[in-house]
Amino acid sequence: MNKRSTGLLLSAILAFVGLLLMDMEFASSVDPVAPTIAPDTATATTATATSTSTTRARDPGVRGGTGAAGGAIAGLTANQKMFFDAGLEDFSEEETVPEGLGPTMNLDGCGGCHSQPAIGGSSPPVNPQVAFAGKLHARNKVPPFITATGPVREVRFIRNADGSPDGGVHDLYTITGRDDAPGCSMSQPDFATAVSNKNAIFRIPTPVFGAGLMELIPDSAILANQTANATQRRTFGIRGRPNIILAGSTVSGQPNNNGNDGTIARFGWKSQNKSLLLFSGEAYNVEMGITNELFQTERAEQANCQYAMAPNDITDSESTETVGTISAIEKFSIFMRFLAPPTPSADTPGGALSISRGQQLFSAVGCAACHTPMMQTGNSTVTALRYKPVNLYSDLMLHDMGPGLADGVSQGQAGPRDFRTAPLWGVGQRIFFLHDGRTSDLLIAIQEHASGSTRTNNASEANLVVANFNNLRENQKQDVLNFLRSR
Ligand code: HEC
Ligand code: HEC
Repeated sequence: MNKRSTGLLLSAILAFVGLLLMDMEFASSVDPVAPTIAPDTATATTATATSTSTTRARDPGVRGGTGAAGGAIAGLTANQKMFFDAGLEDFSEEETVPEGLGPTMNLDGCGGCHSQPAIGGSSPPVNPQVAFAGKLHARNKVPPFITATGPVREVRFIRNADGSPDGGVHDLYTITGRDDAPGCSMSQPDFATAVSNKNAIFRIPTPVFGAGLMELIPDSAILANQTANATQRRTFGIRGRPNIILAGSTVSGQPNNNGNDGTIARFGWKSQNKSLLLFSGEAYNVEMGITNELFQTERAEQANCQYAMAPNDITDSESTETVGTISAIEKFSIFMRFLAPPTPSADTPGGALSISRGQQLFSAVGCAACHTPMMQTGNSTVTALRYKPVNLYSDLMLHDMGPGLADGVSQGQAGPRDFRTAPLWGVGQRIFFLHDGRTSDLLIAIQEHASGSTRTNNASEANLVVANFNNLRENQKQDVLNFLRSR
């Protein structure tokens, strides 16, 4: 262990001792947004501690109930609401080959993948990719990593056959055999070989609730948040940096991937995309095979498998309706932009006291050093989005998460072990966690944050924080889990 890491470890231990003491009096100095807890609450906690410390903490599971997510953000004008509704309808639609679907895709609608607990969310309890494989007599084989009760997944290959970096999405299915695709014949990628060569990685859908608020957090606010708690982060061994996708970073002998405008990207597991419009254009072509005004050419150009005009979906300059003119990717974007963030529960699960203790502990052990509870939007032409609090629980930074979570894929400045701090709003009603959906258990999701070592120079930035969490008493861990499931 080098001198610097010894120093880090020492200060982390000191911080943790401080935390234990602090826990007794529930000082809230670490977390500026957490409510101060009255001394009598602290006494009650200590009492609970002695009576329940032998019960093992466990994930209370998906919080039930509807209505906590899926509605429009408050304060929209009647016309804005009309665009939101039109976007919701299009986002929910299942599309067909004559409309441009395919020739390769992962599913036939945005809403199929983004649907738990409401349209706009993440992976549902029953994976629609199983039934879709044979829809309209399509002749696809369902790969072994796609199961009825497993998460929706898209696949990326780490390397090309010649060993050079790939990192791109390889669609699960083709339209071969479908009633609406006569004469098309294509084969699916060789997933069996990719899996046995450990060359395939998975990504599950991220929810888009509150995405319009995330889109409008100024770069300066993201950077200011990074410096605001720099000392605390250092104590926990946390670094973090934004995914600034540099323009013009050409790899010689390869096509130039666009770098756009050089501001902070923030959407996707690696913060690889700047905006909702960009994500919509990309998802429409990559997930569904529908070309559009952002991505005009087909990913699979095989001549006998093209059935619609290209680009498949564009602005309808002939439409006579107000919402009929704009293209689908703009409708999707407007829907997501106006989609409200999830509403947390004040008392479920575990009761209000446990949830607020959990909130305190979440900050005290260091989770909040990455999962920033609150940021703010900047100016916006849309009043409902202007200067609003964004309770997202993310710093929108990339962190080195060690070899345990590494997926070997680089996107922009995000390297093979780097991920965006996953926003935690809505986590209470999520079924699958982490970029590949490897677990449905929040306790495991927390443990998976830790891997690697400072000695081998591949330590996850979350190692010390996870150690702090593990040193909590069982009832305190339960408070943290109740807090997470209340979001
Ligand atoms: C086959 C499943 C699937 C379909 C269909 C799909 N998505 Fe996604 N979506 C994903 C996955 C997987 C991710 C995470 C991708 C990543 O980060 O690599 C994602 C991420 C996103 C995000 C990023 C949100 C954030 O904060 O990270 C947006 C926005 C989005 N999708 C919009 C759409 C839209 C719009 C459509 C329809 C045109 C769509 N998606 C269709 C699977 C899907
Ligand atoms: C070093 C920064 C960092 C710290 C510290 C950290 N996290 Fe995370 N967290 C992340 C990143 C990055 C991800 C996404 C990782 C992935 O999917 O591979 C994540 C994912 C999660 C998820 C899954 C969310 C999802 O969308 O699937 C949960 C739950 C979570 N963190 C809770 C916690 C808790 C509780 C703590 C404190 C014990 C904590 N995190 C500490 C960075 C951090």
